[in-house]
Amino acid sequence: MADKTHIFNLIKKAYETQNLSLDECEEVLKSEEYDDELFTLANLARVKFSKKDVHLKALIEISNYCHNSCFYCGLRRENSCIKRYKLSKNQILSTTQNAINLGYKTVVLQSGESKIYSTDEMCEIISSIHKLGARITLSLGEKSFEEYKAYKNAGANRYLLRIETTDTNLYKKLHPHMSHKNRFLALENLQNLGYETGSGIIVGLPNQSEKMIAKDILFFKEKNFDMIGVGPLIPCENTPLEKFKSGDFKLSLKVMALIRLLMPQINIPATTAMETLRKNGRLKALQSGANVVMPAIAEYEYRKNYFIYPNKATKNEGLKEQICAISSQIYDAGFCVSKQNGDSVYFQNRQIYG
Ligand code: 5AD
Repeated sequence: MADKTHIFNLIKKAYETQNLSLDECEEVLKSEEYDDELFTLANLARVKFSKKDVHLKALIEISNYCHNSCFYCGLRRENSCIKRYKLSKNQILSTTQNAINLGYKTVVLQSGESKIYSTDEMCEIISSIHKLGARITLSLGEKSFEEYKAYKNAGANRYLLRIETTDTNLYKKLHPHMSHKNRFLALENLQNLGYETGSGIIVGLPNQSEKMIAKDILFFKEKNFDMIGVGPLIPCENTPLEKFKSGDFKLSLKVMALIRLLMPQINIPATTAMETLRKNGRLKALQSGANVVMPAIAEYEYRKNYFIYPNKATKNEGLKEQICAISSQIYDAGFCVSKQNGDSVYFQNRQIYG
């Protein structure tokens, strides 16, 4: 009979050595016996490096135009049921200023993948935000090396680009007309340009196995990303996956916690998808290794059309009410809102020690 404590020993090993083999990661993801211990140790690992700090980052969904056709995403170009929008430079700057006034140190500019903003226009927006004193994260999809470089020179600090899955066959099925190779290359370019680089996956994609997820996790570790976002699939109407089942909340949480054990110094968001799928999902994520929350702060009139999936945990409330509600959730969970600039401990150490 297999040793009953085998899985617990693997979790402990991950905590102590920050290393597990592919098979070991897969075993942890497949077993259910020691989930609570996994979450507890992931929390300990996060407290060890990031203390009780939670970074709040203001997500501004600047446009929902997209030329891609990802099978899961409501922004896909074939979806004619959503009203498309593009925020102007002034709208983005005034939203940023409001966020800064409320204490946000970082704005995250996110959009579908499109050329709706020219490179020059985006650079102007970035340098104006830079002058306002906020750190700038971009999440605008795949761009050329030159565009990433121009954004960086204009003042961008960080970039988020999820690989979604490292399994090429699965990627191909879900992302028509897109190149997996190009996505890997984009991530490499971002890292080479000195961005604090984030990636991530969706958990619960059709035919995605625990082994595939284990490979994703080891890919993140091998590439030394600074931030990893994990969220369950939420089926979205008017997409090919609309009738598909949601990703498993517990498995998503386990993936996140295991990443925390193997990469204790990085930033890990408690994703909106977690909160959307499960009431208090954000809180549970914060208690299981996550250390970042990114509330969407664009005006509701626009934000409600950033329809990557339904029931996105977003309410029509003022920025002040929103930050109060989230802050009290954070304090209730036993954490505090960070006064730092939002860099990961891992990134800070790299700046100091190379
Ligand atoms: N369910 C869960 N996550 C989704 N994303 C897009 N659509 C969905 C969905 N239906 C995620 C993708 C993308 C990020 C911005 O949102 O991982 O990179």
